[in-house]
This record gives sequence, C-alpha cells and structure tokens, in this order.
Amino acid sequence: MIKLAGIDIGNDSIKLVMDGSAEPLIVPNVVAPGYDRHILQEEDSPVKALDVMVSSPSLAQRNQRYFVGLMAVEHEDNMELEETDNKALSDQSLIVALTALAYACVTSSSYTQSGFGGADEVEYVIGTGLPVRLYAKFHEAFEQRLVGEHEVTFLSTPQLQGRRVKVAIRRAVVSIEGAAALYNLATLDSLQVRDEELYYGCIGVCEIGALTTDFPVVKRMNIDNHFSYGEQFGLSNYLDLIIRDVEDAYGYRFPSRAKLVQRVKERNFVIQMLGEGQVDIRSVVEPYFQRAATRVAELIRKRWRKYPDIQCFYVLGGGAAALKPYLQEAAGSMRLRFVNDSELQNMYGYLKVARSRTSQPALG
Ligand SMILES: Nc1ncnc2c1ncn2[C@@H]1O[C@H](COP(=O)(O)OP(=O)(O)OP(=O)(O)O)[C@@H](O)[C@H]1O
Ligand SMILES: [Mg+2]
Repeated sequence: MIKLAGIDIGNDSIKLVMDGSAEPLIVPNVVAPGYDRHILQEEDSPVKALDVMVSSPSLAQRNQRYFVGLMAVEHEDNMELEETDNKALSDQSLIVALTALAYACVTSSSYTQSGFGGADEVEYVIGTGLPVRLYAKFHEAFEQRLVGEHEVTFLSTPQLQGRRVKVAIRRAVVSIEGAAALYNLATLDSLQVRDEELYYGCIGVCEIGALTTDFPVVKRMNIDNHFSYGEQFGLSNYLDLIIRDVEDAYGYRFPSRAKLVQRVKERNFVIQMLGEGQVDIRSVVEPYFQRAATRVAELIRKRWRKYPDIQCFYVLGGGAAALKPYLQEAAGSMRLRFVNDSELQNMYGYLKVARSRTSQPALG
C-alpha cells in the first residue's frame, strides 16, 4: 500500500507526518560521519540514536554511514547547513529526510515486519516544499532527487539493528513554504474551507525559518507571483552570533545551534561554568532576538505598504515562536497574527496539498 506523507525538509529540522497519524516526527537536520561506536548504555529510544547507512541514486556518495539527528547534535564533527547550501540540492537534507521516512515506516503501528533477513519496503507519495526564491528554478530538480528508490539500513540504532528499509518515493508534490502553511490554516482535514477570510482573502505571510524567511502573498489561495518574495536569512544567522558571543564571554561552547535552541525553547538560559558557577546568558540572547525582530517587522511593514490590499499578516515558522514577544514589541500598532505550533504548519499544509493532488479522501 502506498503511504501518503507530508514532509517539511527544513534547514533546522525535518518534520514528517503520515496521513492518518497525529504525531509528527521531528529530526534535527544535523549529520555526522558514522563509525562503530562504543555503547556503554543503549539509548532508551531509537530516535535518539539514528545510525544509518544510506544508499540513493540521488546522493553523490553511496553507502556512507551517518549519525543523524539527535545523535549528531552533540557530536564534534557534526554538520549543520549554511546560507550557501541549496535545500533543493543538499545531500545532507536528503539523508535526513530518507532516514525519517524509513524510520516512520518501521515504527508505524500498522506496520508488520518483513520476513527474516529480508528488507522492509515502503512506498510513499509525499508532499513537500521549497522557499519562494528556490521554487521556480529548482522545484523540478528537487522532485527528481526525491522520486526514486532509496535504501536506509539502521546499524547500532536500538530496537532496529540491521533493519534494511527500501524507501520508494513514487511521487513528490512540491509546494511553496509559507503558502502551504496558510493553506493548512485555511482548510479542514477534509480540505473544505475552515476559515473564509483566509481562504478567500488576500493574506500576507512571513515564515521565519532557520536560513530563509519567506513572504508569500496569497490571494484566494493562489500565490501572487509579483509580490511574493523571500529573504536569505533566518534565525540561524542570529543563533550563530549568540554562540560566538557566549563563547567569547564565558568560554562555553554550544556544540550546535540545535543545542542552543533547546535552551531557548525551555527558556533555560543558565549555563554551567568550568570550575563551578553558573551564568545567565539572557543578556546575550535578547539583543540579538530584538535585532532580528526589528528587521523582520520592518520587512513586513514595507511589504504591507507596497501592497495595501493585504488584509492580515501571519507570522509563522519556528522563528515566529522564538521571536514572538520581540516582534510584537517591534510591530507597535501594526497587528501581526501568530498561531500555535507555527513550525509545523508547512508540514501539515504539504500533506493536505499532496492529498488534494492525489484526491484520496481524508482518513479519520
Ligand atoms: N518553539 C520554538 N521556540 C523557539 N525556537 C524555535 C521553536 N521551534 C523552532 N525554533 C527555531 O526557529 C528556527 C526556525 O525553525 P523552523 O523549524 O521553522 O526552521 P526550518 O523549517 O527547519 O528551516 P528553513 O525554513 O530555513 O528550512 C530554528 O532555528 C529553530 O531551531
Ligand atoms: Mg521552514
């Protein structure tokens, strides 16, 4: 049976949801070269130790071993993406995406294991997306890289040792970041209209990602070609500066942006110093978040002035969650709209777009 899934291949994290399942899978987009590791105590969950061999005709290197996601977040040789990486062509993003798709298959409750020694096989139709600026030029290449037959083998991953999964992507429907998020907000699971203002109106979106910020303008659910645009910056640019300043000031180095973001999400800004003692790094974080928010609010104001037909502006993406209080302050009298789980809205939108294209009825 072909599975339908929405997958947001983000520069910060890959977010995956299967049709009919409530729980999304989130895997940080971080990889490190894999090797035979010494296991003192097995991790309590397989997602904490994604140790995989990935083989795909779309990757430059076949059959390489990687530590993916949480396991790579603390690793000294880990790689996170940079502004210069192109999401549509990035091998790293594809490795993490394929690992997530394989993992979701072997851990889904409806799944029965293949015979001994055989490979598990899963077929997917996926909905996914690209930033405004990459879409026109790269969506075909992106689609071609995704579609095809790939293989992921789990190595030292607890509960999954030696499981080989053939991931066949039969079709990939590529939408536009931010616009898909709005589609999710405007529609029900049945794809019927949930909110008439959003569905039929002229809506501005500012979707703040890790490395890109997209400003689609959506009118009656159609993207405005002329006014939609994207910026090559996101929260990561500021996170990198915070990491640098904290290291300069306190000699404490965050091993990855993901580790810093964990702190931001928990609102836990106290770091441990070598030789005991603790410091609060809020005084380093806040000025950068204020700066980011001022810049974003200014960009929104400019957009709105250029296109006064816009009825309301939604601020979405993980960056919206991080910057919300600062953005509200920077926006002054300009009203901005925020939603819960803003970093997951694209993913749900991609699933709906894929579902509408394949015209499968909604499950549940
Ligand atoms: N709830 C949250 N609170 C604070 N920060 C968050 C939250 N969720 C995500 N972030 C951070 O916000 C940034 C953007 O997250 P998001 O998941 O939207 O990025 P992405 O989609 O992976 O990146 P891109 O859109 O550039 O490909 C990241 O740095 C992420 O770590
Ligand atoms: Mg994103």
